[in-house]
Amino acid sequence: MQPVRKAVLPVAGLGTRFLPATKVMPKEMLTVVDKPVLQYVVDEAREAGIEQFIFVIGRGKQVIEDHFDISFELESMLAERGKTKPLEELRAQLPEAGNVSFTRQQSPLGLGHAVWCARELVGNEPFALLLPDVIIKNKRGVMAQMMDVYNEHGSNVIAVEEVAPERTDQYGVVEINGSGDVFDVTGMVEKPKAGTAPSNLIITGRYILKPRIFDLLANTEKGAGGEIQVTDAMLTLMKEDGFKGLKFQGTTYDCGSKIGFLAANLAFGLDRPDLAPELTEIAKGLMG
Ligand code: G1P
Repeated sequence: MQPVRKAVLPVAGLGTRFLPATKVMPKEMLTVVDKPVLQYVVDEAREAGIEQFIFVIGRGKQVIEDHFDISFELESMLAERGKTKPLEELRAQLPEAGNVSFTRQQSPLGLGHAVWCARELVGNEPFALLLPDVIIKNKRGVMAQMMDVYNEHGSNVIAVEEVAPERTDQYGVVEINGSGDVFDVTGMVEKPKAGTAPSNLIITGRYILKPRIFDLLANTEKGAGGEIQVTDAMLTLMKEDGFKGLKFQGTTYDCGSKIGFLAANLAFGLDRPDLAPELTEIAKGLMG
């Protein structure tokens, strides 16, 4: 079985839901407590053993390249001032030299198209796909949990979770066969119309995919929202090769939505020993 060494992170989206914050700043760089959302996702992938990071960026996203580079002036200033802890943290978060690549999605044709733009950088091997809008809070990251499933079954894997039935029209929704936490996926539909979803299990934004997906994406027609959807290509891949679903351990925060982003800041803030006592008092005070 080929190991999963590479991760694709599509970060080309415009972030219109977060204007004016995202007028000049990529939505993936919004901070949850003191770390960009994107860094949480990269950390999750590294914990799972990912070595190579492929970012599919768009116009105006150059600060993402700078974020995953050494800031020489900043580091020497921190060193001079003896600020060793932040310096060590900055260094620890940086992927190894040569392990970060960037490619551009030139037109916003959809998530499936963004993933397809990474085909040459991924090559002929399985890869992890992580959508950086979503961060998931758990002691052990979701991608690491998914690697266990991949290593056991050698199959394509998607992370799924339950949502309220009235929200299924906002996501990719799966149909499954089996019970427990790991099962066969037997159907998938992107953003089903209200009342037509096959279940209330949605695709969470974490995938392990075999490279065959790229050939399928190349021939995928526009789907939901007039965009090329990764879910549509995955449905064909599922019929050819199978797909495992994992009901993962963890709490999801959709940082692409205002409420999810605020909730993430509260949850991750309350988890920090240096902030929790004061934050709790402030929250209590605000709630009356
Ligand atoms: C994408 C996927 C969808 C998935 C969702 C998770 O949709 O297409 O299948 O459920 O991410 O956040 P988007 O949020 O880009 O519309």
